[in-house]
Amino acid sequence: MSFTVSLYLDLAPRTDSFSDEVIRGLSGRPKTLPSKFLYDGRGSQLFDQICELEEYYPTRTEMSILSGNMPEILDALGQSAILIEYGSGTSTKTRLLLDNLTDADSYVPIDISREHLISASEHIQKSYPHLTVLPVCADYSQRIPLNLNPTPGSRITVFFPGSTIGNFEKKEAVDFMARLSSIVGPGGGVLLGVDLVKDVETLTAAYDDAAGVTALFNQNILMHINARMAGCFDPDAFMHRAVWNGSEQRIEMHLESQTRQTVELGDEVIEFEKGETILTEYSHKYTLESFAALAQEAGFTVDHVWTDPDALFSVQYLTAVTS
Ligand code: AVI
Repeated sequence: MSFTVSLYLDLAPRTDSFSDEVIRGLSGRPKTLPSKFLYDGRGSQLFDQICELEEYYPTRTEMSILSGNMPEILDALGQSAILIEYGSGTSTKTRLLLDNLTDADSYVPIDISREHLISASEHIQKSYPHLTVLPVCADYSQRIPLNLNPTPGSRITVFFPGSTIGNFEKKEAVDFMARLSSIVGPGGGVLLGVDLVKDVETLTAAYDDAAGVTALFNQNILMHINARMAGCFDPDAFMHRAVWNGSEQRIEMHLESQTRQTVELGDEVIEFEKGETILTEYSHKYTLESFAALAQEAGFTVDHVWTDPDALFSVQYLTAVTS
């Protein structure tokens, strides 16, 4: 039996919009790159390796919260016919839900990395043959016209694990969550992971591991750009830095130019001073209070929160407020 799955929607950013976003980011002060461009095929594989690292506590902590509280989580979710996952990656955490959500009939994984998405969808289809798997290749920070038409009375749940919400700036996070609220509609909800504020040592180690996997992940954004834009970045000429910004409550990942250098990207030329950095990612951390305030601004109420004994991470179920 074959488990080939085709894309339900293909909205991957085209190469011209990719180049525009890269040049815009590198022309600003400070220089920035969109963190979504960390995830080409190799970037997604490196991210999977990060999730296995001793220092990177979020993945295993979230998994243990999910598996340790499954009956209560299922109770909060109620009957769910359509499960949508934003940033599905390998869909590993989803299996915990799908093993238990016996009434789910459709699964909609959304991810920017096409190869990763198709292979993960085929694995899911093989394990859950009764499910309709509808993969969407898209930059989910943009509006996605899903047009799912659930049958009356069936509930839509969005699963957004990993604390990926932390990678949005605060205003973008509110706008994104408000879009989720209109997707799930009245009666629907969002089950998401939210990483919590903690001591700076634990946080910086998680984003600057001893084996240097996060450094490779960060530098890979330059290789991704080289491949898509005929670029000449030398990734080794940029050093990975992970910095805690206390006033904004976030880890910032940077690439620091080791020399004064000029980099050609197609027809464009970008100059770097020695020590100048490119900001590649924010990872915001929340308290339970600060996240509840954000959720409320986006049209949700916090229905339930589960945490681990050390309060490193939280899994939260939010329901859309009906007006
Ligand atoms: C995907 N996202 C939630 C990760 C994070 O922790 O912010 C991305 C990551 N960047 C470096 N390590 C992990």
